[in-house]
Amino acid sequence: MIFGRVKSLDAILLTAQRKGLHRTLGAFQLTMLGVGAVIGTGIFVLTSEAAQKAGPGMLVSFVIAGFVCAVAALCYSELASMVPVSGSAYTYTYAVVGELLAWMVGWALILEYAVGASAVAVGWSNHAVGLLRGLGIGFPHLLSNGDALMAHVQLAFGAAPSADLQAAIETGGYFNLPAVVISVLVTWLLIVGTTESARVNAVLVAIKITALTLFVALTLPVLNAENFTPFSPTGASGMFGAAASIFFAYVGFDAVSTAAEETKNPQRNVPIGLIGSLFICTLFYLLVASGAIGAIGAQPVVGADGGVLAPGSAEMAGRCAAIVRGGLEEPLVCSKEALVHVLDTIGWEKIGRLVGLAAVLALPSVVLMMMFGQTRVFFTMARDGLLPEKLASVHPRYRTPHVVTLVTGAGATLAAAVLPVGRLADYSNSGTLFAFLMVAISVMVLRRTDPGRVRPFRTPAVWIIAPLAIVGCVALYFSLPLLAILVLPVWGGIGLLVYFGYSRSRSHVGRGLDDVPEGKVSGVEPPMPGTAG
Ligand code: ALA
Repeated sequence: MIFGRVKSLDAILLTAQRKGLHRTLGAFQLTMLGVGAVIGTGIFVLTSEAAQKAGPGMLVSFVIAGFVCAVAALCYSELASMVPVSGSAYTYTYAVVGELLAWMVGWALILEYAVGASAVAVGWSNHAVGLLRGLGIGFPHLLSNGDALMAHVQLAFGAAPSADLQAAIETGGYFNLPAVVISVLVTWLLIVGTTESARVNAVLVAIKITALTLFVALTLPVLNAENFTPFSPTGASGMFGAAASIFFAYVGFDAVSTAAEETKNPQRNVPIGLIGSLFICTLFYLLVASGAIGAIGAQPVVGADGGVLAPGSAEMAGRCAAIVRGGLEEPLVCSKEALVHVLDTIGWEKIGRLVGLAAVLALPSVVLMMMFGQTRVFFTMARDGLLPEKLASVHPRYRTPHVVTLVTGAGATLAAAVLPVGRLADYSNSGTLFAFLMVAISVMVLRRTDPGRVRPFRTPAVWIIAPLAIVGCVALYFSLPLLAILVLPVWGGIGLLVYFGYSRSRSHVGRGLDDVPEGKVSGVEPPMPGTAG
């Protein structure tokens, strides 16, 4: 039963031809689209979390996470070139391993995109608050994060009261107002149908690349080799743990495959866009991380018992607050805006402020991209009859799927209001890793079940690359913190209830319909942000 109800590839391709969006994107634009979707909170904020988990060894973590993404991207590319339609991993798995697993992938993509959007919103909030502070405008700490609230929750769930938790309550907040504001704003933009143009995307990519280049140019000259020792204070498990978290910094390259329907010669350009954007990002991440470590050091902070504290925990927030209150320099691992903090510390405050401004300007487009990705997956699932068509109903005036956007926006806003960025990123990663795993499996299954089909891009050495992607995804998944590991099965369990309670009996494939009737749901998809004219 698991592998039943496979949607025919020919039907998917026919649908795409009938309802295809205008093909305008070339290899360069796709690569820019990828870089635009990828560079965000991961490198600007989570660098400090990675350092807390692995110390300077986070360099290896960046390589591990980049490698897993690269092998996954090679698998994505084969499917994206064969099935150049929207819906990404969900569509591919539907065509290969059937409806139930495709449903699970679509359900997991909700974690990737919606929770990912909240993580980026919180990263934005950190920079917005920092920028205001730099301009001499203090923002109430009670409204700038959820650290105090988390400390209370931990105490309520039986955590032992400690000085660190007490410090988190005294210095932390209860509600992340800036993150809520940006999430609501992006939701509103998506509802009124503002899709960011390719030109705006190009400008934002240039801003991000300039900021990172400046950072590298200013930090590498003051690099101190001593800051790299001890290189791996937490050992291999620390490096894998950091890789599992920093994986978030690479998420988004799959947006390129989601744009396949809008791409000229997707067979050639989609793989170039996927792998090109991943390559550019990996290069920058390694340079930036080396600069950060070399300039100010990256050793983890330990708690009262001498153990390395978990990043994002209330204890960690409290310990960091205590360090600063004690008059010491804030360590990299404590910073909520890692790159700005490094520049501040080495005496480039003004440039630091500009890098903060770059993040404030550019991160909203990453939030937009992720929320958009979410609405598009919902859309495709509704087109297949697995979700209520009402959910994908179209606003009479704006011609956008306002209901689905509102639901996505409300969920993302709520999560961004109270949870710390690292935790959100970890939850998002657990969903993404599952989707990548299924794509790698699908490539191999399709090679066996449909060997004769034209493959404009073939994953090289697929019997090595795809298993490597599978092993990599599983290894990273089990390196996540326990709570993030548990999120996937719990979320998946809810998904199964919805599937068997609602979707299975309404599925178009199950009912022998290949597609939703003309004119409904599928015809209204707006172009992807960053792709229109
Ligand atoms: N990779 C994206 C980021 O780091 C999601 O913000």
